[in-house]
Amino acid sequence: MIGKWTVLCSMAGLLSACALLSMTAKDDAPRRPYGVLQNATGIKQHTTGVKQNVTGIKASIERGKKVYAEQCLSCHQVDAMGVSGMTPPLVKTKWVLGDKTTLVQIVLKGLTGEIEIDGDTYHNVMAPHSELSNQQIADVLTYVRSSFGNKARAITPAEVAAIRAKTK
Ligand code: HEC
Repeated sequence: MIGKWTVLCSMAGLLSACALLSMTAKDDAPRRPYGVLQNATGIKQHTTGVKQNVTGIKASIERGKKVYAEQCLSCHQVDAMGVSGMTPPLVKTKWVLGDKTTLVQIVLKGLTGEIEIDGDTYHNVMAPHSELSNQQIADVLTYVRSSFGNKARAITPAEVAAIRAKTK
């Protein structure tokens, strides 16, 4: 714009008109920053919503860490690497990262039978943990699914409740 006015002005050679024109251009200017500000507020509101959600997941992970220490660590170990030939790792396995229903059911019902992870075979028994609350199961699985190099979505108590209801 400024370039265009400058060219126009120098062509016309009317300095006063030129000053007038650039003043008019300036008067128009505030519109854009105003629009940007409005937009920024919208973005801010949006981010706050996301932040609240992230805070909720963070708190769940914190609680889940404690549940893990009390309920899972003795077998699956502090680094979730398990014990070779005895207890499988909880690192990027298809159960940890996969279908929520199967994962919640492993905690509720335990697991027996042969499984294979990264070429290692496990044939052992994991006891059921159905005495844990929906909140505790959601927290511990959210913790496991976002720790030890795992990256999978959080699990909510409502989801655990729904899975528990259809699990016999
Ligand atoms: C008494 C030891 C023990 C405890 C406590 C235990 N597990 Fe396990 N877990 C096992 C064993 C053993 C297996 C493999 C069972 C088999 O061979 O079929 C297993 C399998 C699993 C699996 C599926 C296989 C894999 O590695 O992905 C998951 C997921 C799992 N456990 C999660 C948990 C969680 C979460 C807790 C705590 C709430 C927990 N376990 C507590 C022993 C245990």
